[in-house]
Order: sequence, then structure tokens, then C-alpha cells
Amino acid sequence: MVCTNIEILSFWNNKTVWITGASSGIGEAVAKTLAPKGAKLILSSRRESVLQDLVLSIDHSENHKILPLDVSNSAELTSVIQEHQSLLNSVDVLINNAGISQRSLTWDASPESERQLMETNYFGAVTVARAVLPGMMERQQGNIVILSSPAGKFGFPLRSSYAASKHALHGYFESLRAELKETDIRISFLLPGRVQTEIGHNALTGDGTPANSMDERLARGITAEECALAIIKAAEKGSAEVYLGREQVLIYLHRYAPWLFRIVVKRIKPN
Ligand SMILES: NC(=O)c1ccc[n+]([C@@H]2O[C@H](COP(=O)([O-])OP(=O)(O)OC[C@H]3O[C@@H](n4cnc5c(N)ncnc54)[C@H](OP(=O)(O)O)[C@@H]3O)[C@@H](O)[C@H]2O)c1
Repeated sequence: MVCTNIEILSFWNNKTVWITGASSGIGEAVAKTLAPKGAKLILSSRRESVLQDLVLSIDHSENHKILPLDVSNSAELTSVIQEHQSLLNSVDVLINNAGISQRSLTWDASPESERQLMETNYFGAVTVARAVLPGMMERQQGNIVILSSPAGKFGFPLRSSYAASKHALHGYFESLRAELKETDIRISFLLPGRVQTEIGHNALTGDGTPANSMDERLARGITAEECALAIIKAAEKGSAEVYLGREQVLIYLHRYAPWLFRIVVKRIKPN
């Protein structure tokens, strides 16, 4: 038993961990949980001052770096990655977490808002992963954790582009996983149901502006800290796919009883 604990602690010691979306919610909770375990963190998001405050508030501040970036801005992201490629080559674990949700009916969603969801949640995550792959390939080991959602497995009202972006992640990273089968590079998908974060506030409405409203059902979800612990465990074990929260029942329903799933989803009040 003692032995297991030592092994788990040593997994993170001196590991370089890049967390995107570290300024809030799940990413912030992962950073706060990993800092005391001896990990060297690279923290990314758009809001530089929030990242600076976070670094100062977590254990071993001197071990961590911030790398402000906008994953939805392809040109800027590429240039930040090129400038910091040698640092990114040292990444052992990528927590590919930056993302935004959606609160709009399909016919109300502007093409710009749909593109923004795809650029952030899909192309951003792909570009970030490609930045760490050269270093991981050279060492033939590493961990890439992808924040998906039950909406990565089935469509849901008010989430058409969000669901599309999360489905796309599965297609891309499952293919990559198959290509990496001879290596010790592990890809883990986390599919939490509702987590108590700012995701509802930041979700895009049809015109691309944030919803700025609290989703009551989010408040009944799991905490960001619970989600962070599951992410950390998934990386340690190299788990392929982890479901969290009550909503996981819908994943099983969709897989094993799709006809019943369709009935249940029609009865869920969208929010
Ligand atoms: N909360 C849930 O119920 C839930 C459920 C399933 C999956 N997830 C997934 O979990 C991930 C994290 O969400 P969260 O719940 O922690 O939401 P959150 O509190 O809104 O945090 C989102 C994070 O992503 C960053 N971000 C957003 N757009 C970005 C961009 N263009 N470039 C760089 N960083 C960006 C934000 O930082 P800045 O604003 O500083 O850029 C923030 O740090 C997302 O991928 C989400 O889809 C969440």
C-alpha cells in the first residue's frame, strides 16, 4: 500500500506538465493539485494577469512558467509555439483543456460563433498537441489528456457546434492513438458531465457573445477539484477513456439502447 503511494507521488515529480485553460475551472484545479506533487507546470490561457496570480498562489511558484496564448488564433498560436518549441519539447504531460461551450439553437448560431467553437475546441487542441509530439516522439513516451464531454459521444440541444467540436477530438486523437501503438505515449479522454466552473458564463450564444448566465444544473455537478483528481489519475494510469458524473448514464444509454436514448433526450429540458 505504502509502495503504491510512493509510485503515484513519483509519477509527477519533476514532470513538465502543460495545462491549457489554466486560468479557470478545471485547468486551474489541475494546476493547484499538481503543484504540491513536484510537477513543473506551464500554464496557458488568454488572460495573462490571471495566470500570473495563479502561479504566485500555488506551491513551488519558482518551478512554473506561464505561456499566455489564444488557441483559437491559429497564426498567433503557431508563432508562440515556434518561439517556445524547445520548452514545449520537454513536456511530459499535456492537459489539453482550453475550451468553450455553447448555448444556442442551431438556426440561431452565426457562422462566426460556430467557427469560434471549432477553432477553440478542435483546431486549438490539435495544434497544441502537435507542439508536444516531437519531444514525446523522441523520448517515445508521454501523456496527452483530452477534455471531451458526453457531447463528444452524442448530440444535445443547444450544443450543435460544441458537440461537433468534441466529436472531432475523438476522431483525431483516437486515430493518433492507433498510430502511436508502438510507443509509450498515452492518450486519455476525460468525459465529465456537469462540472461547477465558469463554462456556462463563458458559453457562446448565437451571436458569439458569452451567455453570462449561471446554468443551475451546473451548480449540481461535480466540483472542479473532483474532476482534477480524475484527470490526474487518468494520466497516471494512461486510461483510454474516463466518464464522470451522473450524465455518464446517457453515454451507456446512447451506446446500448439508442432508441431509449432518443426518447430520454427529447424529455430533457434544454438549458
Ligand atoms: N464544466 C463542465 O461542465 C464541463 C463538462 C465537460 C467538459 N468540459 C470541458 O472542460 C474544459 C475546461 O472547461 P471549464 O469547465 O474549466 O470552463 P471554464 O471555467 O470556462 O475554463 C475554460 C478555460 O479555457 C480557457 N480558454 C477559453 N478559450 C480560450 C482560448 N481561445 N485560448 C486559450 N484559452 C482559452 C479559459 O481561459 P481564458 O479565458 O483566460 O482564455 C479558461 O481557463 C473545456 O474543454 C470544456 O469543454 C467542461
